[in-house]
Amino acid sequence: MEKLLIEKVAVITGASSGIGKSISLLFAEHGAEIVVADIDESKGREVVQDIEKAGGNSFFLKCDTSQSKDCEQLIERTLEKYGRLDIAINNAGIAGDSAPIGDYSIEAWDKTIAINLSGVFYGMKHQINAMLKNEGGTIINMASILGKVGFATSSGYVAAKHGIIGLTKNAALEYAKKGIKVNAIGPGFIGTPLVENNLNDEEVEQLIQLHPQGRLGKPEEVAELALWLASEKSSFVNGAYYPIDGGYLSQ
Ligand SMILES: NC(=O)c1ccc[n+]([C@@H]2O[C@H](COP(=O)([O-])OP(=O)(O)OC[C@H]3O[C@@H](n4cnc5c(N)ncnc54)[C@H](O)[C@@H]3O)[C@@H](O)[C@H]2O)c1
Repeated sequence: MEKLLIEKVAVITGASSGIGKSISLLFAEHGAEIVVADIDESKGREVVQDIEKAGGNSFFLKCDTSQSKDCEQLIERTLEKYGRLDIAINNAGIAGDSAPIGDYSIEAWDKTIAINLSGVFYGMKHQINAMLKNEGGTIINMASILGKVGFATSSGYVAAKHGIIGLTKNAALEYAKKGIKVNAIGPGFIGTPLVENNLNDEEVEQLIQLHPQGRLGKPEEVAELALWLASEKSSFVNGAYYPIDGGYLSQ
């Protein structure tokens, strides 16, 4: 197997579970040093152990991405440990509440925007400043199909994911000449705890029917797209949004 990320240092937020975990395992297999960043310390340490058992190099840092200070310390400690930052995946996110706007609580709105949108801005701010100190880097922001279309009763999530796509474009424009590439991924519904813990079997079945391929995606499939975007194979891809959705957005 050709290893695509040899000696690259990658910070991955929301890496204790689901898509972030799959990205961490795949990137480690491809030779990257992985900083597993999450609020869930015990699951995060398990991901580190899995990487080490497979012969990779990784360490866990606790980080609540809705806190700017945490995002700053995450990058400071990464630089202390590895001396550089090459790849950042801003993936941490929550589903947020499910209610029409008139009933959507202010607390739920604030929390969803803080984690799913402000967290990406805080992350990029510090990641970009670290990448400017070496010869650049690549950032991938985890948006969603719901960054392109609405989904009734998910206004906090939908607004945050649309915002991520805008932030991605701006960051790409601002740093393209400085060797930093910034792209966004838009998964359809993926079989992870974010979906499985929030929905019953009937609701999951309804979601499956929304995807022309007739199934949910797998976190490993999203990780393959992230790998390509993080590698030199996508060297002229910048400011882009890549859906990975079994055809959802083609309808
Ligand atoms: N699963 C899907 O259907 C789907 C679809 C489109 C986009 N996404 C996006 O992919 C990303 C990952 O989702 P997932 O499905 O793997 O979910 P998941 O629930 O399996 O994993 C999310 C991880 O983020 C962590 N997290 C939550 N809040 C955090 C915070 N404030 N700071 C740091 N870490 C935090 C959780 O502890 C968890 O480990 C999210 O941004 C989500 O919106 C998921």
